[in-house]
Amino acid sequence: MKRTRIPVFHRFWGAAMLAALLIGFPLGSWVWSVLNGVVDNVRFYEELRSIHLTVQVFVFFGLFVAGFALQSGAHVLGGSPPKSEQVIWIYPLILLGVLLRCIPAANIQIAGNIIITAGNLWLLFVMLRTALGGDKTRLIPIASLFAIGFIVLAAAPWLDISDAPKAFFVLWSGVFLIVLAAGQQLIASVLNAKRFNQMGGAIFAITALASVAVLGLTVFTEANLSQVAGILMALTVISYIAFLGVIPALIKTGFTSLVIALVFNFLWALIIAFSLVFADPAWDAIVHILALGSITTMIIAVAARVLGFFSGKVALSEGALTILI
Ligand code: HEM
Repeated sequence: MKRTRIPVFHRFWGAAMLAALLIGFPLGSWVWSVLNGVVDNVRFYEELRSIHLTVQVFVFFGLFVAGFALQSGAHVLGGSPPKSEQVIWIYPLILLGVLLRCIPAANIQIAGNIIITAGNLWLLFVMLRTALGGDKTRLIPIASLFAIGFIVLAAAPWLDISDAPKAFFVLWSGVFLIVLAAGQQLIASVLNAKRFNQMGGAIFAITALASVAVLGLTVFTEANLSQVAGILMALTVISYIAFLGVIPALIKTGFTSLVIALVFNFLWALIIAFSLVFADPAWDAIVHILALGSITTMIIAVAARVLGFFSGKVALSEGALTILI
């Protein structure tokens, strides 16, 4: 099997984290302070809110899942990874797209959107090529999630993601499903959990794809299907945990930062799913619970572990990592 010699994921992750730390999180905190009356300077509120969500969705999460998919994709799909030079240029391209999207001029924003879409379509192509050259039994449970995820991320610049329900659709169907697909490598190798068997993989993929379809109908049409969406989302998470044998693997591994991150990741995702079943959707809240409680915790744990593995150095001590999570 031909392998990419020069890893590329750390560049995607470096850009993702810098943008989040320098722009995304501070602006989110500023927007929160305005909404809660902590500061009264509301000049440029809409513009800065828009930059916050654009950077968080397309750079922090967009580049993180791109790097994660490029790093783990070939392993979980059983194929050959793309050559570094075929993918290395995607992260500066997406950064350029995001920069243009943040400039308040319609034509420039359209150019930015086109660039972000093109970058994600290229990632879709790369993942599909890896999948088709790989293990065919992994097409349904894993490749289908990568495909849906990158299609949604390619479409996302054209959706009004300043509207919380639409943003939630993008986070669930784009970001979270790619995390579930790529995360199987880590779960299998670090926790010694199982891989999907044919039946389990099919059930998981069908519930995941159905959750995307029903959530899409709920968000983009007047259909009142949020409870069905919640049930399908819960089934997606439960079937993932059950068929991969995550709980016994977590118990066997014991109390580590990765285990804590995974517990948060799944627990918050389940809480969100059940909140859709039992209450009127509080979209603003569930966007941020999925973003911060579930996905960001995973990003911290996964990034520290994978970077440590590749660099041969401990990125963060286990204690520091646990506190951070
Ligand atoms: C320090 C962490 C964060 C803080 C304090 C924060 C705060 C906020 C606030 C106050 C709003 C405006 C809500 C409103 O208008 O009612 C907002 C909007 C938004 N944020 Fe964040 N945010 C944070 C992290 C994130 C992350 C990691 C994402 C990842 C995608 C994200 C995505 C969004 C999106 C999509 C919106 C627009 C939809 C909505 O209103 O919920 N945020 N954020």
